[in-house]
Amino acid sequence: MDEQPTKIPSLLRTVEWKDNKVVMIDQTKLPNELVFVTYHDYNQVADAIRTLVVRGAPAIGVSGAFGMALAVLQSKATTKDELISDLKKAKEILFQTRPTAVNLAWGLEKIMNVANSGNSVDQIKELVINKSKKMADEDIQINKTMGKNGSELFDNNDTIMTHCNAGALATVAYGTALGVIRAAKETGKNVKVIATETRPIQQGSRLTAFELKHDGFDVSLIPDTAVGYTMANDLVNKVVVGADRIVRTGHVFNKIGTYQVATMAKQHGIPFYVAAPLSTFDMKSDAKDVIIEMRKGSEVTGIGDKKTAPDDVNVINPAFDMTPPELISGIITEKGVATPPYDESIQKLFEAN
Ligand code: MRU
Repeated sequence: MDEQPTKIPSLLRTVEWKDNKVVMIDQTKLPNELVFVTYHDYNQVADAIRTLVVRGAPAIGVSGAFGMALAVLQSKATTKDELISDLKKAKEILFQTRPTAVNLAWGLEKIMNVANSGNSVDQIKELVINKSKKMADEDIQINKTMGKNGSELFDNNDTIMTHCNAGALATVAYGTALGVIRAAKETGKNVKVIATETRPIQQGSRLTAFELKHDGFDVSLIPDTAVGYTMANDLVNKVVVGADRIVRTGHVFNKIGTYQVATMAKQHGIPFYVAAPLSTFDMKSDAKDVIIEMRKGSEVTGIGDKKTAPDDVNVINPAFDMTPPELISGIITEKGVATPPYDESIQKLFEAN
């Protein structure tokens, strides 16, 4: 693995295929350093997903696909069957990394399908690499279309709250929730952003505040505990967040704390929107079956390397929570905006697909 600090480029591209290798921003180092890492082995990509070098549902979906592209290059297979068997092994290792964001399974499945359609080892290799690159390019296009669809829900002079990071850094580029905010600004609306810090690992302060400042947005950072205060004092007009998984009933799984933000928005009559591509929808599972990733206690008992709690304290550290459909004003996608009742409107988005 190479590691290179770089000057900040004007457009952040979170994950990229370059010279038959995967290059990604090491998000664990932000905001202090912008470091790009280069991987040539799918096991390194699996580690990067597990350790949050890359995170955010669409970004890990594409990273999983790029991991599979590395796997075809690493394989010594001489027959189609051997190559498919190597790919299945890589798929399992990549799939085991994080359980909640459905985009990972979606990305891996797309690659397996394309691999199965090939006839020879060489053809499969070419198909898999081209498909993963295409998925990365499509992610940006989808985010832009989603942004355009969502921007119409926002008005001039709105102050928009967002939670966690659903920006360029959670996707290949442009972002989902932050993509909607970008699109609102691009259509000439003067919008301000309030970013929640997002404990325990602070994607809001480390990533969203970094990304929005980098791109010239008016952004204010608040501790998670100030969500109620800012809403009660008319400092927020609307909320938009991303999602890691949305089931067909409109239950949204997103970063821990999203449920609190949505509940508080309902209490204050503030519209609460979710922005996510169709690849984030899981039309098969019920909300009760979705696995919430539980993460290590040290994320809560310290901030970075600094300890902020006694050694032996028990910790409960779920990475995601579920926001029920009755708290959600609309779900913005690249195919349009779903509104209640979600079981009907989500189904229609897929029929239009
Ligand atoms: O644990 P993370 O950082 O991978 O979780 C990401 C989120 O929950 C984001 O808020 C997001 O909305 C999903 S990605 C657009």
